[in-house]
Amino acid sequence: MTPIAPSGPPLVVMRSLSRARAALPAYAALLGEEERAQAGRLRQITDRDRFVLGRGLARLLLAQATGRQPRALALTRDEHGKPRLADAQGLEFNIAHSGDLVAVAIGRDCELGIDVERHRPGLDTAAIGRLVFTEAEMAGLASRAAGAGTEPFFRQWVFKEALVKALGTGLARDPRRFEIRLEGGEPAAAFVGGGEDDIGGRWRLSALPVTPGYSAALAWRSASPTKTIPDYAATSFSDVHG
Ligand SMILES: CC(C)(COP(=O)(O)OP(=O)(O)OC[C@H]1O[C@@H](n2cnc3c(N)ncnc32)[C@H](O)[C@@H]1OP(=O)(O)O)[C@@H](O)C(=O)NCCC(=O)NCCS
Repeated sequence: MTPIAPSGPPLVVMRSLSRARAALPAYAALLGEEERAQAGRLRQITDRDRFVLGRGLARLLLAQATGRQPRALALTRDEHGKPRLADAQGLEFNIAHSGDLVAVAIGRDCELGIDVERHRPGLDTAAIGRLVFTEAEMAGLASRAAGAGTEPFFRQWVFKEALVKALGTGLARDPRRFEIRLEGGEPAAAFVGGGEDDIGGRWRLSALPVTPGYSAALAWRSASPTKTIPDYAATSFSDVHG
């Protein structure tokens, strides 16, 4: 069984789609009926393959953590569409895919979200950034972005998206209501605007090691906030780094 300690650090597994291609039928065999139907509705083969690899990997990790068979696990979606394990026993997981990479994070007694993004060239990062970043984030980005391509944009983006995915509400919550501060030291999440919304504090944000041309991040917080939170456990990056 994968040792995922209560309130301990999440485990992150990242796979290269191209290197996993030969194993895709085996991953597909782990999926539930609804997932197979969902995969079948994806028109682009690459989208389908990323979906199969992400769900297959998540099922393998959840099976190891629960001692159940991967196919016997019931995966549902909550009201915002975030996939959940039914009868979760405190387990939480999240999936991300972009380009050639598929990432899965799994943890116990915590909230978590993961994001990976290929640095797509030619994006109007200023226009997109204004829709999701606060003024302070945009200013920080402008100071780091000169002549650096889209890398600084995506580095900022994955932190924010990982946090959005940990919160689980998608864009139902305006991403400009909180910000990620990257200047100096560890990245930190802060809520802007006052009010009832408690997304600030206690969140742990980590940049994940990935192949050049990609950024990835994990956001998580323990369900028991008094515990000291160690860093996440990164595993299985070997096939990404070659
Ligand atoms: C799912 C969502 C949260 C991210 O989608 P995405 O960036 O296209 O894709 P990712 O690869 O990062 O994540 C997709 C996976 O997230 C998971 N997911 C779906 N809904 C989710 C939710 N509400 N919260 C957390 N995870 C979710 C699923 O596992 C999905 O993969 P699967 O369908 O293959 O199982 C999307 O609904 C969304 O809200 N996107 C907003 C994008 C944006 O504008 N972000 C701005 C930066 S804040």
